[in-house]
Amino acid sequence: MTDNAKLVQSAAELERLLDDLQKVEKFEPPAKFRARARVRDPGVYEVAARDPEGYWAEQARQLHWDRPFTTVLDDSDPPFFTWFGDGTLNVSYNCLDRHIEAGLGDRVAYHWRGEEGEERAITYADLHRDVQRLANGLKDLGVGRGDVVGIFLPMIPEVVVAMLACARIGAPHNVVFGGFAPESVRERMEVSHAKALITVDGARRKGRTAPIKREVDRVMSGLTELRSIVVVRHTGADCPMQDGRDVFYDDLLARSEPVCPAEPLPAEHPLFILYSSGSTAKPKGILHTTGGYLTGVAATHRDVFDLRPDSDVFWCTADVGWVTGHSYIVYGPLANGCTSVMFEGAPDYPSKDVWWEIIERYGVTTFYTAPTAVRVCMKWGIEYPNRHDLSSLRLLGSVGEPINPKAWLWFYAVIGRQQCPVVDTWWQTETGHIMIAPLPGLTPTKPGSATLPLPGVSAALVDLDGNELAEGTGLLVLTRPWPGMLRTLYGDDERYVSTYFDRFGPRTYVVGDAARRDSDGYFWIIGRTDDVINVSGHRLSTAEVESAIVAHEKVAEAAVVAETDQVTGQAIVAFVTLNADLRGDDQVAAEIREYVGVRIGKLARPKSIIWAEDLPKTRSGKIMRRLLRDIADGREPGDVTTLGDPSVLHQLQERAAARGKATS
Ligand code: PRX
Repeated sequence: MTDNAKLVQSAAELERLLDDLQKVEKFEPPAKFRARARVRDPGVYEVAARDPEGYWAEQARQLHWDRPFTTVLDDSDPPFFTWFGDGTLNVSYNCLDRHIEAGLGDRVAYHWRGEEGEERAITYADLHRDVQRLANGLKDLGVGRGDVVGIFLPMIPEVVVAMLACARIGAPHNVVFGGFAPESVRERMEVSHAKALITVDGARRKGRTAPIKREVDRVMSGLTELRSIVVVRHTGADCPMQDGRDVFYDDLLARSEPVCPAEPLPAEHPLFILYSSGSTAKPKGILHTTGGYLTGVAATHRDVFDLRPDSDVFWCTADVGWVTGHSYIVYGPLANGCTSVMFEGAPDYPSKDVWWEIIERYGVTTFYTAPTAVRVCMKWGIEYPNRHDLSSLRLLGSVGEPINPKAWLWFYAVIGRQQCPVVDTWWQTETGHIMIAPLPGLTPTKPGSATLPLPGVSAALVDLDGNELAEGTGLLVLTRPWPGMLRTLYGDDERYVSTYFDRFGPRTYVVGDAARRDSDGYFWIIGRTDDVINVSGHRLSTAEVESAIVAHEKVAEAAVVAETDQVTGQAIVAFVTLNADLRGDDQVAAEIREYVGVRIGKLARPKSIIWAEDLPKTRSGKIMRRLLRDIADGREPGDVTTLGDPSVLHQLQERAAARGKATS
C-alpha cells in the first residue's frame, strides 16, 4: 500500500480523527489532485454563466453528430424546451462505434462480477457485436422506431446490451428496477404501451434465486400490445416459454444478422422512459431524449469525476434500474469510453468486505455510491475496508439523499484515506444528470453540502412567493433549461406542467426539495417537500404505498409517512385502521407487509405498522400526515388546532413509543 500512513487502524483512532476532521470547515482539493485535474480554471463558472448555451453547445460538439445542429436551445414554447433540435445522432454509435473506430475495441467496458465471484471482462467490441445482433433481433420481432421496449433485468451485462440495442434502432426503453414486483412491471408495460419486454429466467440475491420469468408470466397475460418477451438465460431456472411470444435472448442473437448500422435520430427523439414516484399513487413516466441527455451525462461524468478514460476504473454501485444507473453505469461512462465495474450482488454477500475486495481486484479509481451504503459500512466497522488495499482510489462520490457530515467524514477518512476528494452530487431522475456538485480539482467541499451548481446550471432558492433568497432556507428551483432535463411525463403533458411549472411559471422548474444556502452560496439539500419518501436513496410515494395497503382486504384506511432512520435515511411507517371487528397483531402486520411487497416490491414494505382505530384528521376529513410524522419520529405533535378529534393522538403516541421499545 502506498499510503499506509493514512490507514485508520482502530476504532479509537477513528473517533479521534473524526473529531479532528469535524473542526475543518472546508476541504480544499488535495494539491496533488488539483495539479492534474481536468478542470482547474475557476473561470469556467463565469464563462458558462455568460453564455450557458454556448457552454452546452461546446459539450455537445464532443459527441459524434450525423448532422450537426445549428440551433442550441429552443425556448419558444416553455416549459417544452428542445436542445440541438435540428441535429441528428445515435446514442449507441456514440457509446460504441465511435470508440471502436478510434481503435479502442479491446478496451474493457465492464469488469462484471457475479454474486458467486464469477468474472467477465466485456470489451467495447463485445458490446458492439451483441448490441447489433440484438438490435436486428428486435427488428425481426417487429420492434421499430418509437416502439417502447420494457427491460426487467438484474445487474448483468445483458442489461446494457438491451438498452443500447434499443437506442440503436430508436426504440425508447423502459427499464424497471429488478427489485420491483411483477405487478409493477405489468403496470409500467401497460401504461407505456410496450411492444416487447426483455427479462431473465431467474435472478440471484444473496445466494438465493428468484424465478423471474415465471413471476412475470403470472401477471403479463392480457396485455394486447406486448407481443414479445425475450428471456436472458442467467440462473438456468426452468421457465415456460409461450409459443409465438417468447424467445430466448441467446437464440435470438444467434439467428439475427450481425450488422446493424446505427440509425441517425433527431436529437429530440425519445431515448427512454423511467417511471419514478411522485406525490400521487400513479408513477410518473419521466421522458428523456437523445442529444441533450447524452450531452449532459457525458459532460458531467467527465468533469465531476475528473475522468481519465484511459486509466480510470469507474464504479457506480447503483442499480441500473434507477436513473443513477442509466446515467453513470451506462450512458455517461460508455459515451466517454471508460472502463467500469458492474457488480451483480449486495455489499454483504458473500461477505461484508466484498466491495473493498472488488476495488482492490480491479483497481477502482472512482467510487460512486449512496449515503445509506456509507452508513451501513460505518456500522459494520473499519475492519472490512482495512482488509484490502484501497490505494487505487482517487475520487469518491455520493448521490441519492443528503449525506450527513459524519458519514461524509467517515467516507473521506476511512475509504478515501484523506487522499480523495468527495463529490456530493445532487440531481434527480428528472434532471437526467448531475446538477449541483463540486468540480473536484476546483471546489472546496464542506461535508454535507452538494456545494455549487455546475457550470451551465442555474439553481436558486426562493421563498414561498418565489422571491429569490441569497441565503437561508427555501425551495430549490432551477431557473434555466438544461440539456438533460426531462421533456415531459410520458403521455401526460398536463401533469408535466402542473407538477413542475405551475407554481412559479413555465421557466422555473420546481424541484420538490427544500434547501439551505450559506454565505458562500453553497447549497445544503434538506429533503423533499412533497409526499415522496427516500428509503436508501430509493424514491417512493406515500400515496403509492397507501393505495397498496388499502387494497388489502382487511384494511379500512392507511396513512404512510417517513420516519428518520439512522441507516436508510428515511423508513416507511404505516398507520393502519383495520375493518371493524378486526384486531391488528403481528400476523396481520406481516400479511400487509408481504402484500405491499408483492404489489410494489420489497423496498416498499413498511418498516413498522402502527394500528390506529382512528387517524388524526382535520375537521374536513383530511389526514394530518404532519402529525403522524411527528409521532413516528417521537416528537411532540405540532399545531393541533385544526384536528377534529384530539384524543386519537395520545393513543397513537403510546403505540409508536411501544414500537420503538420493541424494535430497539
Ligand atoms: O431529494 C433529492 C434526493 O433525491 C431526489 C431525487 O430522487 P431520484 O429521482 O430517485 O434520483 C436519485 C438519484 C439522482 C432529490 O429530489 N437527492 C438526490 N441526490 C441528493 C439528494 N439529496 C441530497 N443530496 C444529494 N446529493
